Amino acid sequence: MIQLIRGFRDILPDDIQVWQYIEQTAASLLEDFGFREIRIPMMERTEVFARSIGEDTDIVEKEMYTFADRKGELITLRPEATASIVRSYVQHKMYASDPVQKFYVIGPMFRRERPQKGRFRQFYQINAEIFGVASPLADVELILLLSTLFARLEVDDVEAHINSLGCPACRPAYRKALSEFLADKDKALCSDCRRRRGRNPLRVLDCKVPACRETVATAPAILDFLCAECRQDFDTVQLFLDKLGVPYQIDKRLVRGLDYYARTTFEMQTGLLGAQSAVAGGGRYDGLVKQLGGPDQPATGFAIGLDRLAEIVAGRKSIEPRKSAIFVAALGEKCQNEAFLWVCRLNLEGVEAEMDFSDRSLKSQMKLAHKRKADHVLIFGDDERRQKIVILRNMKTKEQVSLPLKGLVDKLVEMIGP
Ligand code: HAM
Repeated sequence: MIQLIRGFRDILPDDIQVWQYIEQTAASLLEDFGFREIRIPMMERTEVFARSIGEDTDIVEKEMYTFADRKGELITLRPEATASIVRSYVQHKMYASDPVQKFYVIGPMFRRERPQKGRFRQFYQINAEIFGVASPLADVELILLLSTLFARLEVDDVEAHINSLGCPACRPAYRKALSEFLADKDKALCSDCRRRRGRNPLRVLDCKVPACRETVATAPAILDFLCAECRQDFDTVQLFLDKLGVPYQIDKRLVRGLDYYARTTFEMQTGLLGAQSAVAGGGRYDGLVKQLGGPDQPATGFAIGLDRLAEIVAGRKSIEPRKSAIFVAALGEKCQNEAFLWVCRLNLEGVEAEMDFSDRSLKSQMKLAHKRKADHVLIFGDDERRQKIVILRNMKTKEQVSLPLKGLVDKLVEMIGP
């Protein structure tokens, strides 16, 4: 037997309802807020990601599925969607008609991480991105969206953590202070952090190794180094989250695992998933559009980890499995042939109906109807055929009525229809 690849998985029909429910709830909320769906490719030239996510990040250093295609061009399976969406915004000059654009993307991402609970090598995200709005109110809108979505999904133990990562004007001073703090801490850091400390000390704050976490607990906080504009932006975010009644925590250690962020960043965190506490993450990435060859347009966005959210929602909310509305128990070939036409017509009318084709006894067909959770069964044997009727049994109340064959489908649609 051939098994699937480690860290990859099948999402089977029994589990898919939760996924569909989340995707539909999210898409309809995002569309209410003016976001439009865009579909971007699963693969891009490696530089799209390497240049935006950052060479010193875990993703680019060791987690990308990168290979040379037959012509030797380096190609990467997308580890995230933001860089691709920026590439598309720039390539199609979408800013030309109106720089303000709001997009959402739902789909799989690929990172070669160590698989564990809540962490896969192919995982799914719901991304939302806003281009062309420099105001921090766009960040507020995104955090409101996340908090509203979680509330609609009845997930209540998730909380927004927010921080500011400063901007190119104020971050260098912080970097310097952090480098100085880390300068004599090599012994307490993991080998990755020792290496990164010089080039990109902020990455050390994001390290998951317990010794590193302990070491940075007393490190200087970026919030103490913000310039006046960054400070004002961050204050505005808090003010409007308060006005909208969105709960949040200020988390001065939140740095995110990608390098393109500036100013406000945020994560939705939960204690429900063990070590994988982030169900969503995002923030402002004002320099990225320009960096990827576009105009100097600001941008901000988030991505929700759908695998993680589905796990929480599945444990929370009981979503009614879709039932087969009508099971047709037809006995003998003649009855079956006639019943097949009703089933097709019912399906075409939007009524879920099915039948069994293996010519079993009425008893075993009733068992099957029960197993399939049908709420009605149509019983049709030679006797009924002769009398030009069919028996409709309500499986809940056990009531039975007989219906004339003439006009049967219309009658059923009227009684049970969508
Ligand atoms: P990220 O924090 O790397 O951000 O990923 C966002 C979410 O995807 C995480 O909070 C987590 O729930 C989920 N996730 C990440 N890796 C895995 C994995 N291996 N298995 C399961 N779930 C995972 C980004 O990707 C940014 N592009 C978000 C963004 C959009 N920023 C601005 N716009």
